[in-house]
This record gives sequence, C-alpha cells and structure tokens, in this order.
Amino acid sequence: MSARHLVVRDERDSTLAAAAGHLRAGGLVAFPTETVYGLGADAARPAACERIYAVKGRPADNPLIVHFATVEAVFALLGEPGGPARALASRFWPGPLTMVLARPDGVLAGASAGLDSVAVRVPSHPLAHALIAEAGMPVAAPSANLSGRPSPTDAAGVLADLEEAAAAGRDVDDVWVIDGGAATYGVESTVIDVRGGAVQMLRQGALPLAAIEAVTGAVGVAADVRRSPGTRHRHYAPRAPLWLFGPVTPTAAVAAFVRSRPGPVALLAPPERALALQAALGPDRDRLRARPLGGHGDPEGRAAARDLFACLRWCDATRVAYALAELPDGEHGLWPAVRDRLERAAEGRWLERATGEAGDRS
Ligand code: TXA
Ligand code: MG
Repeated sequence: MSARHLVVRDERDSTLAAAAGHLRAGGLVAFPTETVYGLGADAARPAACERIYAVKGRPADNPLIVHFATVEAVFALLGEPGGPARALASRFWPGPLTMVLARPDGVLAGASAGLDSVAVRVPSHPLAHALIAEAGMPVAAPSANLSGRPSPTDAAGVLADLEEAAAAGRDVDDVWVIDGGAATYGVESTVIDVRGGAVQMLRQGALPLAAIEAVTGAVGVAADVRRSPGTRHRHYAPRAPLWLFGPVTPTAAVAAFVRSRPGPVALLAPPERALALQAALGPDRDRLRARPLGGHGDPEGRAAARDLFACLRWCDATRVAYALAELPDGEHGLWPAVRDRLERAAEGRWLERATGEAGDRS
C-alpha cells in the first residue's frame, strides 16, 4: 500500500500547498475536519470524484458533501438561496452544518450522484480551511472510511481503512493523508435540506437540532429517507455484531445474554455498568472487554461523541465475537447524533428482542 502519510502541524505548513497541488492535479487527499476526517477530491472534476467512490467502495447513488473555503464562495457558485439558508450560513459557517441546496445544471455534477441538489458545507478546521483555500476550488469529501465502516476521527483510522482497500485490490497510490491529530467533535456534520423554505433534518450530527431551531423555528425530521440517499445504506458497523440495551436494562439481563452466547465480548458503557456486569458475570467476567462510553459528567455528549467511532473500531481490534453497547438516553447537544450512530451500527439488534440468532447479521 502506498498512500502517503503527511504530518502537518499548522495551517502555515508548506505540505498543505503540496497537497492542494495534488488535489488540483486530480488526486485524492484525506484531511481532518472539525467533525471527522474526509477523503477529498476536486468537486468540479467528475473523474476525481469517481476515484473517491472507487477507493471507498461507495454506492454510486450516494452523493458527496462539497466543502468550500468561504460562505461567499458557496453562494457565488450556487446562486443566492431563498429561505433560511443565508441566515443559517451566517450563523453556523464555518462549522459542522451541511445544507442541501438546489444545484444549477452542469455545476458539481460529479459529486451529486445525479440529483438536482448538492450538499455543501464550510468547515472550520484550520487545516481543512487552508487546504481548500489553497486548492482554490470546492472539495468533495465524504467521511474517509471505507463504505459502511465507522468514520475515522484520526489519521491512523484513515490509513487503516486505506490499507484494507489496498488489500482488497483497490488502487490507493494517489491518496495522500494529512495527519492533523484528532477531530474535534468525532461525529459528522448535521445535514439539513433547506430547499423550498422549510428546513428538514436529514442526519443528526455535530450541530444540535436546538441550535438550528433557534434560528429557523421548528425543523421537520425527514421521514422519507430517499431525501438523503446515504441513510439507505449500511453504516458504522463494526465487524462483530453489535447489540444494544438501555440504561434501564437490568445488569442481570445483560449478564444472562452474555452467558447465552460464547466468546469474548466487548462492552461500550458507562464505567459503573462495566463494574456491575463484571460482578454479575462471576467466573465469566474474563470474557468481557470493557471500554467506557457515556455516563455522568457529560451533559452534552461531547466526550461520548469524540470517543464513539474509536470505540467501534476498537471492537474490531479486540477481535471479539460480538459487542454490547448501552444506548445513552441524553436528549441534548451531541447525544442524538451519538444515539443515531449506535442505532445504525447495531442494525436493529436489541438485547431485549434477541431470540436465538434471529437478529444476527447474515
Ligand atoms: O462531517 C461531515 O459531514 C463529513 C466531513 C468530511 O465533512 N462528511 C461526511 O460525508 O460525513 P458522508 O459522505 O459520509 O455523508 C454525507 C451524507 C450522506 O448521508 C449523503 O447521502 C448525504 O450527506 N448527502 C450528500 N449529498 C446529498 C444531497 N444532495 N441530498 C441529500 N443528502 C445528501
Ligand atoms: Mg460517511
């Protein structure tokens, strides 16, 4: 595998100019954003966008988010939007908000998967901003994971997935990876559709719904997932099947579940739950690999969001037979995004509903 790993300390680093040149030449550059790492390409060049799909193994019907250096650049290319888009852009860009806007004919076609809309955002991460500004063009960038896997929140996660892509015979030679440390939020941007005046939530994310509603009034949650093609596909799944239980699920029930299924098991839960489960498991406690997720002292879910994808990737590294996670019940801040990612990763497996192997992934 020969993806290129470039450690970049700050936005003045000359490596960024070289990476921007690589983007302009049609190459791929993975880079940190304030949410997760993205895998970038020239958004105006369909062949470069196609390389993103090839490397990620991404379904062709799932469009890419296009990243701009400034708010002005977005509206200069796409035209002045009606409705609340301007106010939302002034309030939340640069930052972790993605807006689906109308796409003029012939613009950013390679990123749009054939739709008449395009999802755009202006990231606030200094390295992302510097890279896009230096490249002098919009940069299409989905999360830098292989399709279906947890999003990478650091360069090591990106490199691990690229290695896997290379092992599967995909060409990753033209991929550069900018290593700018850990992403700030750890979950992806919030995606809303702002066309036609009304705001629709398409994906919970790093910008809380309440912050958007403070600007726009009530926001609808899209029931029709066809409005956001990405929500149709498998997401965030660790290799071992993940089962969820709730904060109110008795520890005895979790212990009974563990006893009924052989093999090492990963647990993502508040530390006090891990301790209680160890005690309840008695001689079986050695099968448990616990990693803290959630719990007291994190009212906005920020720490949980930062750790979440690393936790899911850790489940793979520990080579457990299956994983269990306590689904947090927090309502504020990043908790809805954390819950959404865990629910999708679990693909409907609920400990309380487990009957035999019926819920297992086939
Ligand atoms: O935080 C983020 O959003 C990261 C960083 C790199 O910016 N990017 C990211 O991209 O999460 P991706 O491709 O993993 O997720 C983009 C989501 C998908 O669910 C996709 O279907 C949706 O946005 N999307 C993209 N274009 C769309 C469009 N035109 N209409 C509706 N949904 C769209
Ligand atoms: Mg993604």
